[in-house]
Amino acid sequence: MVGIYLSGTGNTEHCVKMFVNNVCDDPKVIPVEHAESVEYLRNEKEIVLGYPTQFSNAPKMIRDFVEDNRDLWKGKEVFIIVTMGAFSGDGSGCTARKIRKYGGIIKGALQIKMPDSVCDSKLLKKSYKQNAEIEKRADQKLQGAIASIRSGIYPKEGLSGLSHIIGLFGQRLWYLNKYKNYSNELKISDTCKACGLCVKECPMHNLILKEGHLKPEQLGRCTMCYRCISSCPQKAITLLGKEVIEQTRYEKFCG
Ligand SMILES: Cc1cc2nc3c(=O)[nH]c(=O)nc-3n(C[C@H](O)[C@H](O)[C@H](O)COP(=O)(O)O)c2cc1C
Repeated sequence: MVGIYLSGTGNTEHCVKMFVNNVCDDPKVIPVEHAESVEYLRNEKEIVLGYPTQFSNAPKMIRDFVEDNRDLWKGKEVFIIVTMGAFSGDGSGCTARKIRKYGGIIKGALQIKMPDSVCDSKLLKKSYKQNAEIEKRADQKLQGAIASIRSGIYPKEGLSGLSHIIGLFGQRLWYLNKYKNYSNELKISDTCKACGLCVKECPMHNLILKEGHLKPEQLGRCTMCYRCISSCPQKAITLLGKEVIEQTRYEKFCG
C-alpha cells in the first residue's frame, strides 16, 4: 500500500500517514510532487490518495496527477482521503469518478474536517483551542474508520449521488473560474525579504527568484495549496484574501 498526497499545511499529510501506518504492515507514503510518486502508483496495488478539498473539488495538481497517469489506475484498489475546513460535498467523489473511469476500484473514502488552511481570509477562523479540538476529533474519526476497515467495512463519504448534487450545486458551479486552471493570482508584497523559502516549498515549482530581484516571480502554475502563504516568515504572500490573518500548520494545533 502507498499513500500519495498533496498537503499545503500538513493536515492531509497527517491523515494519510496515520491511516496508512495503521492499516498496512509495510506502509509507504509519498508527496505527489515527488517524481517517484508515479512509480509508486505503477508498482503498488493498493493506493491511498489524499488531498485538501478546494471548492468541493480536488486541487488541479491532483486532478492532473489522476489524468496524466490514466493508464496506471486500471485494477488499482483506491481509498480516498479528503481533508476540509467545513464542507466538501463530493470532494472525494470527483476524483473517484475519474479513477473509476480509468479502471480503478474505489474501496472507500473519508472526508475529514481539519483546521482551515485559507489563512488570508477571515472566514472559518477558529481559536487555537477550537482547532486543537478539531484535530483531536479528526484523529478519533480516523481511528474509527481504521477499526471499521479492519472488520471489512469501508466508509464511503462523498461518493453518493446525493453528495454529488450537493458538491456541484453547493460549490463547484459557483467557483468554477477559481479552480478550473492553475492560478496566477499570488500577490507578493514589498515586505518580502527574498529569502527563497516559498520557492523551495512550492510543490508546483511555480515561483522563481531571479538573481538580483527583490521578490520571486510566479509562473502561473499555483495549485492554491497555501504552503508558501502559511510558511512565509514575512507574511508577504496572499492569494484569495488581502492580508495574512493567521498562518496555520497541522503541527501548531496537535498538542
Ligand atoms: C483554495 C482553497 C479552497 C478550499 N476550499 C474548501 C472548501 O470548499 N471546503 C472546505 O471545507 N475547505 C476548503 N478549504 C480548506 C482545506 O481543504 C482544508 O483546510 C484542508 O484540511 C487543508 O489541508 P492541507 O493542510 O493538507 O493542505 C480550502 C482551502 C484552500 C486553500
